[in-house]
Amino acid sequence: MVRVIAIGLLFGLGAVSRVHAQSPLYGQCGGTGWTGATTCVAGATCTYSNPYYSQCLPGAASGTTATTTNPTTTTSSGSTPTSAAKLSHVGVNIAGFDFGCGTDGTCTTSMATSPLNHDGAAQMQHFVNDDGFNTFRLPVGWQFLTGNSQSGTLNQANFNQYNSLVSACLATGASCIVDIHNYARYNGAIIGQGGPSNAVFASLWSSLAAKFASQPKVIFGIMNEPHDVPDINAWATSVQAAVTAIRNAGATSQIILLPGNNWTSAQTFVSNGSGAALLKVTNPDGSTTNLVFDVHKYLDSDNSGTNAECVTNNIQSSWQPLAQWLRTNKRQAFNTETGGGNTASCIQYLCQQIAYQAQNADVFLGYVGWSAGSFDPTTYVLSEVPTRSGSGWTDTSLVKSCVAPSSGSQSGSTGM
Ligand SMILES: *[C@@H]1O[C@H](CO)[C@@H](O)[C@H](O)[C@H]1NC(C)=O
Ligand SMILES: *[C@@H]1O[C@H](CO)[C@@H](O)[C@H](O)[C@H]1NC(C)=O
Repeated sequence: MVRVIAIGLLFGLGAVSRVHAQSPLYGQCGGTGWTGATTCVAGATCTYSNPYYSQCLPGAASGTTATTTNPTTTTSSGSTPTSAAKLSHVGVNIAGFDFGCGTDGTCTTSMATSPLNHDGAAQMQHFVNDDGFNTFRLPVGWQFLTGNSQSGTLNQANFNQYNSLVSACLATGASCIVDIHNYARYNGAIIGQGGPSNAVFASLWSSLAAKFASQPKVIFGIMNEPHDVPDINAWATSVQAAVTAIRNAGATSQIILLPGNNWTSAQTFVSNGSGAALLKVTNPDGSTTNLVFDVHKYLDSDNSGTNAECVTNNIQSSWQPLAQWLRTNKRQAFNTETGGGNTASCIQYLCQQIAYQAQNADVFLGYVGWSAGSFDPTTYVLSEVPTRSGSGWTDTSLVKSCVAPSSGSQSGSTGM
């Protein structure tokens, strides 16, 4: 293990002197606006992926140059990235307090598992210090927070446990997303549409926002993955109730994440009407400052985020049309769940997705990988749980190659 760390250091040092000479394996090597290296390290071939992205993939030829010609893509105004800045928020989900929650909005609270009992605080410190992450998403079930009461009154003991995780997150200097992981439901019934009233949902957010009002780095994730919500406009009214409650509780300036229907699919956010409905949600002063759309996207064959292999980078189907819509509407989105198995296909496609998001950082805040925290790294197919090795840590191959800012996936360089 010590030997591995030493070799990693040598590579890192070596890369500094030739950072623009050759892109690393899985690094970017071409595409619209790309100004970095266009050749790959030995053993990798620069491979055209789309007009925006060529990537160093494992293959015989070394020193191959990308096809830099941009095939017939005419960029109309409104579809051109206006900024090539780095993503502002790149992170990992620290799951555990959501364990036991089902997609029908039931939660077996005895199954909630604090990531702090699974080295979660140290995981976050490692992710910040060694990998360059600056955001964590902290899922929790509604039922856990209120002690199985369909209300907005927090159960003090349970909230204290969750708050310990938020505090450990804030102590790293990162932004921390408070995520209610209930799929727009409480025990099977949809908020505002047969389930808890909007007033009850708003009171939950009022209680939470009051606790975190003085923390500028807390981000409020109103709801994880609403799905099969029959009336999207009614859902937008529920979201509005939560936003108003958060602002009126004194959290006047923090980022709030607005989730659409269909599991917050980035692909159908616009086409299925979520975008149009959520555009109407505003702050109490009528502005939309720091109201950011929440979108998820996995890369496997059935969009579920349960398969080890990836089949798409989602650029043509999802990120490109969404970026254009966001620019047209002068809004931003945050991809708070994405990921894949620790496989070559996921490394290839997720690196492509991340590079595209970074090229469109004017409309995308960033992404949060799923997932570290309380998962068992030896059995969970989408594990991003780092493991201790001696005095250091070993990341999963997907984190090391793509998810971590230090992988260079945002820029195609080594990032060291
Ligand atoms: C939900 O989104 C997926 C892609 O993420 C899409 O394949 C599916 O058709 C969508 N379903 C609905 C009801 O819009
Ligand atoms: C969203 O998708 C569902 C299921 O396909 C469909 O019934 C509904 O009409 C769609 N809504 C909009 C606004 O497109």
